Amino acid sequence: MKNELTRVQMEVLKRIRPSRDERDRLHRVTQQVISAIKSVINARSLKATVEVIGSAARDTWISGDCEGDRDIDIFIGFDITTPRDDLERYGLEIGKEIAVQGYDICYAEHPYVKARYDGFTIDVVPHYIIENTNQLLSAVDRTPFHQRYVSEHLSGRQDDVRLLKQFLKGAGIYGAELRVKGFSGYLCELLILKYGSFVDSLFSVQNWKVGTYITLTGENTSSSFDSPLAVIDPVDARRNVAAAVSLDSFSTFIDSARSFIEHPCIKCFFPPKIAPLDARAFRAITTKRKTTLFGVRFTLPNLVDDIAYPQLERAFKGISIALLQQGFSSLRGDIFYSEGEALLLFEMLVWQLPSVERHLGPPIDKKRHSMKFKKKYFNNALVLAGPFVADGRYVVELPRKYLTFPEYLTKEFRNFRTSKAIVQAMEKGFQILKDEELLDSDGTRFFLARYFDKMLNNCD
Ligand code: UTP
Ligand code: MN
Ligand code: MN
Repeated sequence: MKNELTRVQMEVLKRIRPSRDERDRLHRVTQQVISAIKSVINARSLKATVEVIGSAARDTWISGDCEGDRDIDIFIGFDITTPRDDLERYGLEIGKEIAVQGYDICYAEHPYVKARYDGFTIDVVPHYIIENTNQLLSAVDRTPFHQRYVSEHLSGRQDDVRLLKQFLKGAGIYGAELRVKGFSGYLCELLILKYGSFVDSLFSVQNWKVGTYITLTGENTSSSFDSPLAVIDPVDARRNVAAAVSLDSFSTFIDSARSFIEHPCIKCFFPPKIAPLDARAFRAITTKRKTTLFGVRFTLPNLVDDIAYPQLERAFKGISIALLQQGFSSLRGDIFYSEGEALLLFEMLVWQLPSVERHLGPPIDKKRHSMKFKKKYFNNALVLAGPFVADGRYVVELPRKYLTFPEYLTKEFRNFRTSKAIVQAMEKGFQILKDEELLDSDGTRFFLARYFDKMLNNCD
């Protein structure tokens, strides 16, 4: 067992530990970018520090050939007297100027540039130089403290961090972004510092309980956090580094840890790629399940993922609840969002209903209300049956207003508990795709393959 654990780790490290060449290239590009940034700073007579932080600086990045776009995080520090607007403007200007192959603007607490440079993505993030984390002016001001803390403590355990990151990637829970709600790179580093190694981490994680509370400095802070996992930031006790971890990501980690300890295997780190679904495979699956799938498709232009996902989740929930109240019940569903195109998927157990609907009146002993009800429906041409008495109440049977999912959604989408942005987006137009119509792009063919293949990693 011990040997097997070691063998698998060695095998995985062969794939994720950066080669000599890759390290050299990363260092060369980092130096070039730093001097480019410094010359922009000098040319504008700004006063600012330039620092490489994150996994590139801590030697905890995963070899690029598994992922494609390797990021280098560069932090530019300004004096606390710099006005906020200027700080943001300088950061953007510097980032754009060094972006020889183009850039994207991203939004954390403030906007920053992701510059493309020689096969790397360079995150250029401006921040304030502060002396301790009580002086925090923006959330990213903590980051240089993370950098110092991890560099001072992690020595020799970089490979354990890499293994943990890849393990979480394999389980689909690496990253704090709202699409994933998982474990950030910094959180991985802290877990390795806490537990000592990758394998020791898994042995602890398999026994985690909801409400697990971890500190590295030993002291018990009084802060309480409303999340399944709390990992107190060693550089700022007010902050929970695991705040983004959802109950499902937390639970998935526990499950993966247990199954890996039981059967150490490489598949946990590199799950087999799923093939996109074609129409034949789709029909084979739905013939067995006998459900009906609907996708509601619309565009959400210019929204970054961290803003789009929470909105789409709310819309998905709001629509599901409304559907159920009408009697259209669903088994499951999912959200697909890619470059401004959103698709809400509903797998329906019931998507059409007979015309007749039961309409309950008041209890008979509520005299005034029940007489009013009876008057309204007695000799009413709309009524299919009733009023009659059942379980002490008046009941009538009426024709149903909406007979199918698409009819209901089309007429009522403005009244669901979603959000203004979603209603506005849908008002500009939306499509309802049914069953095989959903397979009209590569994106949705992969999405549906993953949807039907939903299963935890397991290593038998
Ligand atoms: P990154 O997201 O680039 O993570 O943030 P990373 O540690 O470099 O890991 P990978 O290998 O790219 O995936 C860079 C640094 O910014 C801070 C952390 O200190 C992190 O190491 N950070 C980032 C935060 O404090 N909070 C965040 O939500 C994101
Ligand atoms: Mn990074
Ligand atoms: Mn980054």
